[in-house]
Amino acid sequence: MDQRIVILISGRGSNMESIVHRCAEQRWPAQVVAVVANRPGAGGLAFAASRGMATAVVDHKAFNTREAFDAELAHVIDGFSPDLVVLAGFMRILGSALVQHYQGRMLNIHPSLLPAFPGLHTHRRALQAGCRAVGATVHFVTPELDHGPIVMQSVVPVMPGDDEHALAARVLATEHVIYPLSVRWFVEGKLDVRDGVVHQADGASQVLI
Ligand code: GAR
Repeated sequence: MDQRIVILISGRGSNMESIVHRCAEQRWPAQVVAVVANRPGAGGLAFAASRGMATAVVDHKAFNTREAFDAELAHVIDGFSPDLVVLAGFMRILGSALVQHYQGRMLNIHPSLLPAFPGLHTHRRALQAGCRAVGATVHFVTPELDHGPIVMQSVVPVMPGDDEHALAARVLATEHVIYPLSVRWFVEGKLDVRDGVVHQADGASQVLI
């Protein structure tokens, strides 16, 4: 039976789109069953609806506490019986109870070479630090923010004259490669986490340079 994927977004959803496209084109043993956003205006919702996928909004502004938001979010996600929950530009911090509920079956992408630059404004901070290379990281989600066993990373150079927008665009292009590949490995059962380190069953390279 196909693995059921639920994708969480907050905005434009380009990573979500790339996963939906690769899943269909490459006939993964999986389907994206729903896209859930925490913002009613999230651009990616229109794409999801146009593809006939279920969509839902759990607006964080409607909740007084993080716990109440997390509880409703988990209720909505679980309504789709996911095997995998994919955070794709989901910009809310999730509490540890929710994260533990999806332990081992929740992935995130973060636009930095973790463990460097967790949190916001990663590209600006990398430029300020004089980094010569930056990238993105796909990782299993753990209660610590932007932390957890690393599935795959991409690395790109910082070019003279780059501003944070140029850097973000260069990194994003690689996110659209490493995130679908990581999700594919998960649904094909090719990821094994041992002592906090992710091993790919075929020995495939877990870095895109
Ligand atoms: C991506 O660059 C993703 O790595 C980042 O938000 C962007 C979402 O773009 N995620 C984070 O910063 C999470 N901490 P998208 O909506 O077009 O996929």
